[in-house]
Amino acid sequence: MNELKGKVAIVTGGSSGIGKAAAELFAEEGAVVVIADMCDAAGRAVTDGLASRGHTATFVHADVSREQDVQAMFTLALSQYGRLDVLFNNAGILGDQAPTASATAENWDHVIAVNLRSVFLGVKYGIEAMLRGKGGSIINTASVAGLVGFGGFPAYCASKGGVVQLTRAAALEYATQGVRVNCLCPGIIDTPMALSFTHGNPDAVAALTQTEPLGRLGRPEEVAELALFLASDRSSFVTGAAIPVDGGFVAR
Ligand SMILES: NC(=O)c1ccc[n+]([C@@H]2O[C@H](COP(=O)([O-])OP(=O)(O)OC[C@H]3O[C@@H](n4cnc5c(N)ncnc54)[C@H](O)[C@@H]3O)[C@@H](O)[C@H]2O)c1
Repeated sequence: MNELKGKVAIVTGGSSGIGKAAAELFAEEGAVVVIADMCDAAGRAVTDGLASRGHTATFVHADVSREQDVQAMFTLALSQYGRLDVLFNNAGILGDQAPTASATAENWDHVIAVNLRSVFLGVKYGIEAMLRGKGGSIINTASVAGLVGFGGFPAYCASKGGVVQLTRAAALEYATQGVRVNCLCPGIIDTPMALSFTHGNPDAVAALTQTEPLGRLGRPEEVAELALFLASDRSSFVTGAAIPVDGGFVAR
């Protein structure tokens, strides 16, 4: 119940899926939570729900690919709560499906901006905020698509591979200054993003499920448990890691 007691956490993409599950788990474990997302109504519903259960949570509208929005997100967290201990850079999109020769430069730029530029901005300003205090833990959501190739999603794969390498670089840079930087690599998780890939088609869902050695899709709550571990002091000797939470996907 108290793994994150006294800590202040920002969760991007906290209006839905993995981010929502993590924001709720972090709050249940004692953290004050700031949710940043573009989807205001859903995000406010999450923070209202947390407040109604006695937790402290704030929603801030942010497009995490925009530098001003990311800076404003940190300004709000620091001015309202005075410190930052945990940053979960989780917001992301899948982008359009097309093999590389047919893919558009517009989709490439958009996916890289939302999935990779955002993480760079978050890590950059997150480290700055954490160094003002006693350090902290940054968790980035990469993907198994950052570890192995997925045909049809070149920009997504490149963005997630970039998140893995950015995580390692930043972890090495700040290892001795009290800031740990890790990323988690989900397999196929049952969220609106996965649904957007299958369009709810039962055959497509079944085909996707078959790619998971555990024989089912992951639940966002199962990814949130790894995020909690990385956010908490229990992972004090873990930095620069890219940890699959994937039902065995990359073990094949
Ligand atoms: N679901 C999966 O199978 C899966 C697998 C591997 C990795 N991931 C990663 O997990 C993360 C969360 O995805 P999810 O599955 O929970 O999807 P989701 O669609 O349920 O949630 C994504 C959230 O990010 C927000 N978002 C999107 N663009 C944004 C922007 N520019 N600024 C701020 N917020 C923005 C959305 O509004 C949404 O609330 C993503 O980074 C995704 O790439 C998901």
